[in-house]
Amino acid sequence: MMDVKYEVSGGQNLGEIVSVFPGSAEIFNEYKIDYCCGGHDTLKEALKEKNIPEQEFLKKMNSAYESFVKEASEYKDWRREEPQKLIKHIINSHHQYTKKELKDIDFLMTKILKVHFKSHGEELLKLHRLFGGLKIELEEHLVKEEENLFPLMTEYFANKDAEGLEEIQQFILDTEEEHDAAGDILKEIEKLTGDFTPPEDGCNTYRLVYSKLDALEKDLFMHIYLENTVLFGMV
Ligand SMILES: [Fe+2]
Ligand SMILES: [Fe+2]
Repeated sequence: MMDVKYEVSGGQNLGEIVSVFPGSAEIFNEYKIDYCCGGHDTLKEALKEKNIPEQEFLKKMNSAYESFVKEASEYKDWRREEPQKLIKHIINSHHQYTKKELKDIDFLMTKILKVHFKSHGEELLKLHRLFGGLKIELEEHLVKEEENLFPLMTEYFANKDAEGLEEIQQFILDTEEEHDAAGDILKEIEKLTGDFTPPEDGCNTYRLVYSKLDALEKDLFMHIYLENTVLFGMV
C-alpha cells in the first residue's frame, strides 16, 4: 500500500505528489502553491515561480511524509492497555480525524461537483448523496459515543457497578449497528468509484477527494475494530 522508499523530488508533478501523499496538500496550501489547477507543473517549477528554496521545501515535505508513513504503520496492541487510555486514543485520533476529514471532503466534493458536472455529473451526484448520508451518520454517531456510551463506560470501568451494565450493553448493540450502516455506505462509495479510482480527466481536487475517501475508509476500519473488538470486549 504505502511505499516507505517513496521520496518527493523536484521533478515530480504536483498532482502526483498529492495523490501519493494527501497530506502534502496542506503544505502546498501553506506555501500558496496551486496543486489543483496548476497540477501539471513540476514541483521544481512551482517552487522557482514562488522563490521558495527547493532543498528546504523538500526537507520539510519528506519529513512530513516520513511521519505520515510511521504513524500509519505504528501498531499498538490495545488489548493490553487500560480501557480509559483506549477511549482517549479513539477520541483524539480517530474521532478528531473523522470530523476534520468529513468537513474537508464535503468542501472539496461541492467544488468537484460544480467543476466536473458536465462530464461526470451522474456519478458525482450519486457520490455527493452517498457522502452526505455518511457524513450525517458519522457525525451523529461520534456525538453519541462521546456523550453517551464512552462516559457510561468510563463510569463502569471505574467502579464496576453492575447497574449500568445493561444500559451499556444496549448502547453497544446500537453502536455496532451504526458501524455496519456507515461501513455499508462506504462500500457503496467504493463500488461507485471503482475502488476510489478517479477518472482520467479528473483534476487534482477530484483525485484528492478520492484518496481522502479511501483514507477515511481505512481509518474507519481500524476505528471500528478498536471499538467493536477491543473496547467492547473489555466490558
Ligand atoms: Fe468511535
Ligand atoms: Fe463507533
